[in-house]
Amino acid sequence: MTISAKALLREAEEMQSKLVEIRRELHSYPELSWEEHRTTRKIRDFLAEAGIGILPLELPVGVLAEVVGAEPGPAIALRADIDALPIREETGLSYASVIEGRMHACGHDFHASAILGAALLLQKHTALLRGRVRLLFQPAEEKGTGASAMMKAGALKDVKAIFGMHNKPDLPVGTVGLKAGPLMASVDGFKITVSGKGGHAAVPDAAIDPIVAASAIVGGLQTAVSRSISPFDSAVVSVCQFHAGTSWNVIPDTATLDGTVRTFHPQVRKKTPELLERIASGIAAGHGALAKLEWFAGIPCVDNHPAATEVLRNAAEALQLSIVEAKPSAGGEDFAHYQQVVPGSFAWIGTGGTEEWHHPKFTVDEDALVPSAALFALAAIYALEKWGAEREQEIGLAGGKGIPPHLTGV
Ligand code: NI
Repeated sequence: MTISAKALLREAEEMQSKLVEIRRELHSYPELSWEEHRTTRKIRDFLAEAGIGILPLELPVGVLAEVVGAEPGPAIALRADIDALPIREETGLSYASVIEGRMHACGHDFHASAILGAALLLQKHTALLRGRVRLLFQPAEEKGTGASAMMKAGALKDVKAIFGMHNKPDLPVGTVGLKAGPLMASVDGFKITVSGKGGHAAVPDAAIDPIVAASAIVGGLQTAVSRSISPFDSAVVSVCQFHAGTSWNVIPDTATLDGTVRTFHPQVRKKTPELLERIASGIAAGHGALAKLEWFAGIPCVDNHPAATEVLRNAAEALQLSIVEAKPSAGGEDFAHYQQVVPGSFAWIGTGGTEEWHHPKFTVDEDALVPSAALFALAAIYALEKWGAEREQEIGLAGGKGIPPHLTGV
């Protein structure tokens, strides 16, 4: 017995007004990273009302829940982020943010509502499910710290695969962007402190000017990508802050540079700190100064697992959604942390907006809620079948093979 894609889509359509209602509710009360108390409560209430079990989660915010199938099997995870941004909403919508200076300008209210929809659909069909679908409503994606906190709290325990999404304003409703391999860049930060010797502006020969040395380092860092990274790999090194000095006529002791490195290639990411350190200290030495690099490891790149991506593709095809090759984004997503541990795939969901993420007039077309809920419910069902079959093969149950291979004494 299986669930037909068509029936699932019809059921999702029937719950459209409910999904719109919860989305607008979340949209009106946006909360920043690690402050999502009301959002957490609303999501818990919504799930509890549907009879979906809430799992313990030792975090101040965020929700962990599970739809439990009638038959045993693997655990599959669906993840939505739930936080908002410090932006003043200018959409003029009737359900616009009522909290001054806060806005769901990245559509995480949409993600949460779509996964709530998927949860409702799955809960209707527990009799046919073989395994469990774990639901992760993750706080603090914008800070990049929510996913690792969820993992530390045990959210991925026993999970075989994970699926997530981001709305995409430039894709029309009913379109899904999928791509195996790197989709979003890794995001790391660095600080370079250049130490020289302060002195009088009129006597530079008695000083070691860290401003001149740091300026040369800014220029030198531009060659890190062009001369030291393969032209077939992509990376961005940007210096975004340059601080030095306290007066117009004093050469300061130190100058600091802050910046970020983005890349889609783990091997590039690995070698970048050493590369930047070498360039900075070499140039500083040429000026008689010293440069020290501090590296702030952030988020790895979102790297979609081929098998998990195939599951999403099969579900999207069955639902007759329009599938396009997802265009990568140099933005970061802490969904990447989950993918370090289990196979995962992250999809673009077309929401046909006029503005990009983080814009005060950012909107999503709510018609995208229905296909998204159906897509993630069906992907979870397919994933349970796929990873369930693998499990059976592993323990020698498939095809009546009898004794598990590891017990045959070979
Ligand atoms: Ni976002």
